[in-house]
Amino acid sequence: MKEFFTIDDFKLAGSAVLLRTDINSPIDPTSGRILNDARIRRHVRTINDLKDSKVVILAHQSRPGRADFTTTKPHAKRMSYLLRKRVKYVDGLYNSGTMKCIESLSNGDVILLENVRFYAEEMVMKNQPVEKQGDTLFVRTLAPHFDYFIQDAFAAAHRSQPSMVGFPQVLPTMAGRVMEREMTMLDHLLQSKLDSKIAILGGLKVDDSIGIAGHFLDKKIMSNILTTGAVAVVFLLAKGVDVGSGSVDIVAKEVDDLQVQISRAKELLEKYGDRISIPTDVAVNADGERVGMPIEKLPSEYPIYDIGLDTLVEYSSQIENAGAAVLNGPPGVFEIADFSLGTKEIFKALANTSGFSVIGGGHTIAAAEEMGIVEKFDHVSTGGGALIYYLCGEELPAIREIKKSYKKYCKA
Ligand code: 3PG
Repeated sequence: MKEFFTIDDFKLAGSAVLLRTDINSPIDPTSGRILNDARIRRHVRTINDLKDSKVVILAHQSRPGRADFTTTKPHAKRMSYLLRKRVKYVDGLYNSGTMKCIESLSNGDVILLENVRFYAEEMVMKNQPVEKQGDTLFVRTLAPHFDYFIQDAFAAAHRSQPSMVGFPQVLPTMAGRVMEREMTMLDHLLQSKLDSKIAILGGLKVDDSIGIAGHFLDKKIMSNILTTGAVAVVFLLAKGVDVGSGSVDIVAKEVDDLQVQISRAKELLEKYGDRISIPTDVAVNADGERVGMPIEKLPSEYPIYDIGLDTLVEYSSQIENAGAAVLNGPPGVFEIADFSLGTKEIFKALANTSGFSVIGGGHTIAAAEEMGIVEKFDHVSTGGGALIYYLCGEELPAIREIKKSYKKYCKA
């Protein structure tokens, strides 16, 4: 049964559309260069399908306080290159200059507004009731200039912020092409009845991953969890392993309260110890050199940068025999050649599994692309946190609003 509108449901030629994308990309903080444009590329089809409309794009880049929290200017440049037409970057969100620019658009024009997270309302109205988010100055100022809102930011669909859920309160809302495909493929994974479904959780978003591991196991969505990356470090700490200050410092920078995360991981281990795999060996970065060590040899003054060889063999065999496997977040610091082994081998195992394979997360896609194996997976999701929350069966705020809009306007 149809639950949401798509671009095919409306005659969009000649209309003004506000398109929320997720082009949050890995960026070199020093040069400001986009290191991987996979997420930007995904939106090309949506934008091309709007070629006869006036298109204004909303996007965020990173979060306040992070080194890659920066303007969307380089994204506009990259979009222009990919679309083979000018995407003008506008240095504002709803100031008078921006509004003038929006009013002067012709059909076929595309502009990208400034990073929405530069603006207070986007941050402070987070998680407020959606009606309040629809009543922000940001939404009240921009919305009257548009006929439709297109929600294509699947990767941020778990975020309840004005740019994500405010506009559907006041504009007819549909899913863009990225959103449509994500929902179709992930529903396929959820609906398949398989004995062994494995989630490989890594990367740096530890707080999200721990919550998700709990959901996966509580709701029997996944049978086993393999921990890697910073997520594994927290589980090691929860198990009472003294990993050493090098690793603790790195993880502590990524989460608000490391002790809380350790307690959450401990609770999960008590409940599901036999279904959560934790590395038995790791590789630390000893002044640039890869040094493998079993966890019994920890603590190390050097930080953990990858899973070790024994862990790799064990995890690979579990993945190859799985009915379905989902990977979110790279297992190691793959950007540094010596520490890319774990990521590469786990990816290979996933690419070789006969089960349904899904990978997700901005950095994960970048790693898979670097290895040239993107085509080997059944689905490469643009989402990191959003992907796993979706797989947990949670209704993501942005998706809930797309569905509400369908109910509101389908009879109209
Ligand atoms: C992501 O990279 O997962 C999305 O762009 C959402 O980013 P956030 O976790 O900073 O909200």
